Amino acid sequence: MDVKRLVLNGDSYFGANAKEMVATAFEDHHFKKALVVTDDNLLNTGVSSLVLDVLNHHFIPYDIFSDVQENPTVESVKKGVEKGKETEADCIIAIGGGSVISTAKAIGIILTNPEFSDVTSLEGKASSKYESLPIIAVSTTIGTSSETSMYYMITDLEHVKKMVCIDVHAVPVVSIVDSDLLSKMPSNLLATTGMDALAHAIEGYISKDAWLLPDLFLLDAIRLISQNINEAVTNHNEEAIMQMGMAQHLSGMGFSNTGLGIVHSMAHALGALYNTSHGVASALLLPYVLYYNLQACPDKATQIAHALGIELANASLKEVVQKIADYVFYLNKQFGIPTRLKEISVLEEDLPKLSEMAFQDICTQTNPIDVTPKILLNLFKNAF
Ligand SMILES: NC(=O)c1ccc[n+]([C@@H]2O[C@H](COP(=O)([O-])OP(=O)(O)OC[C@H]3O[C@@H](n4cnc5c(N)ncnc54)[C@H](O)[C@@H]3O)[C@@H](O)[C@H]2O)c1
Ligand SMILES: [Fe+2]
Repeated sequence: MDVKRLVLNGDSYFGANAKEMVATAFEDHHFKKALVVTDDNLLNTGVSSLVLDVLNHHFIPYDIFSDVQENPTVESVKKGVEKGKETEADCIIAIGGGSVISTAKAIGIILTNPEFSDVTSLEGKASSKYESLPIIAVSTTIGTSSETSMYYMITDLEHVKKMVCIDVHAVPVVSIVDSDLLSKMPSNLLATTGMDALAHAIEGYISKDAWLLPDLFLLDAIRLISQNINEAVTNHNEEAIMQMGMAQHLSGMGFSNTGLGIVHSMAHALGALYNTSHGVASALLLPYVLYYNLQACPDKATQIAHALGIELANASLKEVVQKIADYVFYLNKQFGIPTRLKEISVLEEDLPKLSEMAFQDICTQTNPIDVTPKILLNLFKNAF
């Protein structure tokens, strides 16, 4: 077999008191001062303070940068870098979902690799020379696995583009998945970020670059998500929410090493053009793309169906694929997630442009089937 590389983050802590480990990690690494990256909403709703209380209790010095939006921007990263320089921090504590942790990664990489200060040159597989300023990442959502992955996404408003950045130097040194923080999510956010985690697990599993070890993480992530998502979203069951936190982490351990597919290329185009919330875009597109992609992966389609607990009997490949797509579609419907692009104010005349944007996205390269802008346009039309 060809040489394969498996990159995972250092320490990960899980559980209701995992947030306490932020202080332990800070002290164990002999850090002196932290730049806390979070967002204003998390500060105002008291989610970040669950971690800030730990820092205060341990007299850990820090400054806060919270100018981070959903689909975080190049400008926000630049401001964060300036704040990081002023603060003279020797580590970053990121408290948030994928938007915050993506911003923290870009800031951390630029602080140690200043030749990327324009931010846009970070796009794609980066050629940074040095490890990011060490990041302790505390996840507050159950979607992106940013706390463990080498991926981060930054929006370039000037060129109307959501940049996918992939850099082994950006993997956090410590990651924390704490159910006290995750349980603060309202059910719609649990639903959309949970469905995004399912999209990562499936796209990573059927990626062109999939291989044995990530497959093991990804298949179990699919299983764990299907067993817990309903209980987490519908009943706000804390144990199920914690299991979802672990499932999304597992999914990140997988897809970070295999890449994603066109659900993500298409979701990134929607994020760039309409600022669509990533979880909504990813969840909505997933069944339409699966119906297309899974036809090319018969064995994996069967494994996915088993992991989702779908009864197959003697189903043909076409039936297996239909059952999986239906399963995902009805989960979206049950959770009140929009199931058509027109419901989220996408304009039909923008579909060709969105298809071109999605075609250029790096995630298209690892899709199990090679696609053209025309195929992407058909998929956008199906979802419209
Ligand atoms: N780094 C990666 O590997 C990776 C992978 C996929 C996506 N992303 C990117 O991450 C972003 C999406 O991240 P996300 O889905 O985690 O959401 P998010 O970080 O964009 O957060 C969405 C909203 O939910 C709020 N929120 C977050 N946690 C909360 C909590 N516990 N309680 C209440 N409110 C909370 C936030 O303040 C924000 O307003 C997108 O930009 C996406 O492209 C990153
Ligand atoms: Fe995603």
